[in-house]
Order: sequence, then C-alpha cells, then structure tokens
Amino acid sequence: MTLLVVATGNPGKLREMQAYLVDSGWELTLKPEELEIEETGDTFAANACLKASQVALATGNWAIADDSGLQVDALNGAPGVYSARYGKTDSERIARLLSELGDEVHRGAQFTCAVAIADPDGAITLQSEGVCRGEILHAPRGNGGFGYDPIFYVPQKQLTFAEMTPELKRLISHRGQAFASLRVGNSGPPLGIRGNGELGAPKA
Ligand code: IMP
Repeated sequence: MTLLVVATGNPGKLREMQAYLVDSGWELTLKPEELEIEETGDTFAANACLKASQVALATGNWAIADDSGLQVDALNGAPGVYSARYGKTDSERIARLLSELGDEVHRGAQFTCAVAIADPDGAITLQSEGVCRGEILHAPRGNGGFGYDPIFYVPQKQLTFAEMTPELKRLISHRGQAFASLRVGNSGPPLGIRGNGELGAPKA
C-alpha cells in the first residue's frame, strides 16, 4: 500500500475519499494538523492542485486534494470558490443564498468538484473535475448531507441532495463524478491505472 496524504484536516472528508478509493491500493491518511494551506486560487482546479502540491512537498508523500462548491447561474456563478466562506454556518450560508436569489425564476445551479493528486515532488500527476446540475429550491428540504444539500434539487431524481441516501448522492454527485473520472495528467503516468480505467496506487 502506498501512503496518500489527504489535504484536509476533516476526518469526514477522509472517510468519504476512502469510500471512493476503496481497493485502489492507496492507504489514506490526514495531513498534519499544523499544515495550513490557504485557498488562494480562483478556480476549483487551481485550489485542488495548490493543496495537493503543497501537502506533497511538505510531507514528502503522494497527496490528494479536492475543492468544491456551488455555482448559481442567476448569481453569475456565486458563491463558487467562496462557497465555504459565504457565511459562518450552513444555515447562514443557505439563508444568504436564498435571499440573494429572491424570487428569481431561473434557478439553475451546479455543484463542481475538482480533484488533484501530486507526487512527492509536488508535481500534479492526476486531476479531474465532476459537475452535477440541479436547481435551487425556495426553501430547504431533507435532513441528510451537509452544506447546501437541502436547497439543491436534482430534477431527474426528484430529490434534494439532503433527501438522497448517501449511496445515491455518492453515485451522482459532483464529487462522485470527479473521482470516477480521475485520469492521467499531462506530466506522465507514474500511477498505475488499471485496464478498466480505475485509479490504482503507483507501481512499486
Ligand atoms: P471544500 O471543497 O471543502 O472547500 O468545501 C466547499 C464548500 O462547498 C463546502 O463547505 C460546502 O459549503 C459546499 N459544498 C461542497 N460540496 C457540497 C455538497 O456535496 N453538498 C453541499 N455543499 C457542498
């Protein structure tokens, strides 16, 4: 098993990534708590690459990072990379978004997730992006999930993210799609990609 440091201090995110990368040959571990990386990029991909690269360099291990957020069409893509900083709590963030959207009729939106893996020298070797389209409801619905889940409605499933089982959300979400489509990056393939396109740990 090759160690893969997850560029987050959040054990929930580690568990989620473990579920996506099960049987991949990677042993996931949290980044050191004292290592803080500022998300200064203006795209999800830039932030994911920045975090993966810095954590790899600082720890001397392979590292993986993701960056995600909600982009609302009628708000010109806001809150976007500022999704986590749009308010102090999930309910404040939801309240702010609903108030900014007001009675707007066009309520299309999407969640986007970018994932990047860096080698121990900090070079990005794999990256991908997943998108899940939906609509913003006028009021929250459902008790599951986190963040903006209760106001994000997926018409094909007739459910909000907060009403879905974790398995269904994992399957269709931006994060699920990003992990499903991790591909070899520009800098060559030191990672083992199995015949079926799945991500595997680097060959020893
Ligand atoms: P980060 O990717 O950890 O920087 O999180 C970005 C922010 O986007 C989170 O704090 C949430 O507010 C929001 N977000 C990202 N993914 C989801 C999701 O699947 N459901 C609800 N909110 C999400």
